[in-house]
Amino acid sequence: MNSKNNNFDQNKDRFFKMADVYDKLVEYLVPNYNFLHDELIKLFPFKKDDQINIIDLGAGSGILLEKILSCYPNASGYWIDYSDDFLKVAKKRLEKLSTRIEFIKTFLEGDWMSKINKKIHIITSMSAIHHLESNEKIALYKNCYNLLEPLGWFFNIDEMKTLNYEAYVNSLKRWYKHGEEIKEKISNDKKEYYHSLKMQLDNWKVRNLDNINVPKTKGDDIHETFTEQINWLNEIGYVNVDLFIKYHLWCLIGGQKDKD
Ligand SMILES: C[S@@+](CC[C@H](N)C(=O)[O-])C[C@H]1O[C@@H](n2cnc3c(N)ncnc32)[C@H](O)[C@@H]1O
Repeated sequence: MNSKNNNFDQNKDRFFKMADVYDKLVEYLVPNYNFLHDELIKLFPFKKDDQINIIDLGAGSGILLEKILSCYPNASGYWIDYSDDFLKVAKKRLEKLSTRIEFIKTFLEGDWMSKINKKIHIITSMSAIHHLESNEKIALYKNCYNLLEPLGWFFNIDEMKTLNYEAYVNSLKRWYKHGEEIKEKISNDKKEYYHSLKMQLDNWKVRNLDNINVPKTKGDDIHETFTEQINWLNEIGYVNVDLFIKYHLWCLIGGQKDKD
């Protein structure tokens, strides 16, 4: 096995171990996590009772899917992710909605599209696609475009670079500081998970701040600017492409498939 694959396996392993901790603390860890979800759902151009089908890529413990399916009682969803541990946590969280969800354990870089047998109106993702290399991100954005129904939307809330390098480095530092500050804010029933989260965060700091100049490899946190990603969406053919929100490292970008 070459060192690139080895590194990828280590990163994959990281997700296998962090699922439960992440599920418990992500609302603290990602600044304005719930706000980002809520604003994303407000962008859906559908009526409450519409029978829409959605896909969440890198769905993790299923928090976003749970919110979307709760807002749209006739909607169905696909959970797509490669992690066994996140699958376990998601199945528990989404138990009450399980008749409306199909769980597909697979790589985002693979052919997950052939397993989709419904018309897709919305594809979402949060904090997952940045682990892919640039060419894989472009391929994924294309696959999403091809899968969407006319007028369907693709949205990605993810870690992206600012245009100014110094501002980017500051956004990384601010997130690390934010991760330290949440310690005091975590509710008592979840405090026991912080130690484990802090270990992950310190690991993140070594990879992303202390070694900022070391080239990133597959599975790492690979940040492009939001303008690069928006350009990709435009080049693929999405319309109404925009940056809807930018806060700290996180950007909500999206684009719509044209009428035909
Ligand atoms: C940081 S978690 C985010 C989970 C969820 N979207 C959220 O925002 O709460 C990243 C998720 O992406 C998944 N993931 C990362 N790289 C992936 C890949 N190449 N293929 C499939 N899933 C991947 C991980 O297993 C994990 O569940």
